Amino acid sequence: MLILGLESSCDETAAAIVEDGVRVRADVVASQHALHRPYRGVVPEIASRAHLETILPTIRAALAEARIDLDDLDAVAAGVRPGLIGSLLVGTSAAKGLAWGLDLPFIAVDHVEAHLYAGRLEAEPVGTPAFGLVVSGGHTSFFRLGACGVERRLGRSIDDAAGEAFDKAAAMIGLDHPGGPKLAALASDGDDGRFDLPRPTLDRRRFDVSFSGLKTAFRRTVLHLLGLDDPATDPRGHADRLSERDRADLAASFEAAAIDTLLAKVRLGLEGESDGPTYRSVVAGGGVVSNRRLRDGLVGLADRHGVDLRLPRAAWCVDNAAMIAGAAFPRVAAGESDPLDTAAEPLSIWGRPDATDSR
Ligand code: KG4
Ligand code: ZN
Repeated sequence: MLILGLESSCDETAAAIVEDGVRVRADVVASQHALHRPYRGVVPEIASRAHLETILPTIRAALAEARIDLDDLDAVAAGVRPGLIGSLLVGTSAAKGLAWGLDLPFIAVDHVEAHLYAGRLEAEPVGTPAFGLVVSGGHTSFFRLGACGVERRLGRSIDDAAGEAFDKAAAMIGLDHPGGPKLAALASDGDDGRFDLPRPTLDRRRFDVSFSGLKTAFRRTVLHLLGLDDPATDPRGHADRLSERDRADLAASFEAAAIDTLLAKVRLGLEGESDGPTYRSVVAGGGVVSNRRLRDGLVGLADRHGVDLRLPRAAWCVDNAAMIAGAAFPRVAAGESDPLDTAAEPLSIWGRPDATDSR
């Protein structure tokens, strides 16, 4: 069964073709990073216009890569939430148009749930119950997954997503947006013990995390190094005065604190929730899962607890359409589809403060 998946929630226009939910036949991603870089963040209007210009060539490229025609498809899926609404509309409308024109099922996919599917591409089926974490630029959430997908959101970041915190910290030491990967690269040469930054664990028995305290402490540390006493000063304008050693040590200390915060919640899950199940596996997804320190930490925890671990390859940690097509597969296989008037929505149900149990 061949499913075309489209992803356009933020600043990547992507199309992929996945066979039977596992085999990735085509995976095309057109990134807009260069367009947004001068603004140090994603500009929604620029993003939606670029999606519109790129979506059809991206779909054509995916069909060519898979060496198939539109007629060979069995379903069309799109990430319909969460994301920038103008951007989501492009992929969602293209998918609906194709589904309507080809008389195929349309599947509306939640982007956060799709990130949890990325580790199952090109891999054996995962044992459930599984502990899931999505750590990206827009989301930091922990889930319980059952055989049919997400069963419960266990906790989330109550403020910044981890990737967002990485990007903001990176900007403070003068790195271009999105700075998370650049900060991680600098960190590999740094001393992670030089600056003592907080690991805000909140309640140790619960899964919610917070990154705002870490961000503030990091900012103070940067200002202190720069000899700037006024806490209102924006360190970005002065970052070029930091030495390479200071930047590397700052990056390493930040990365260690942020990743420790995430790993503490995975450990909590694997040690056992009070009323929860014993997990058989850990499934991770989202851009921050390409972070080496997080990956190594997850491998260590999974080994210690004797559970299976699914880490997506780097290309499927960040936004991509293979995870969208993959996540749609169980529903297509079950004969389900979504109506063509399904709306694109800026929020995931998993992003709501009150979201816990599945729909
Ligand atoms: O999943 P993704 O592509 O987009 C969202 O859905 O948000 O994640 C992008 C985020 C950015 O914040 C980026 O800085 C972060 O993932 N990121 C990293 C690394 N690679 C990407 N953060 C830390 N370390 C990395 N190696
Ligand atoms: Zn994402």
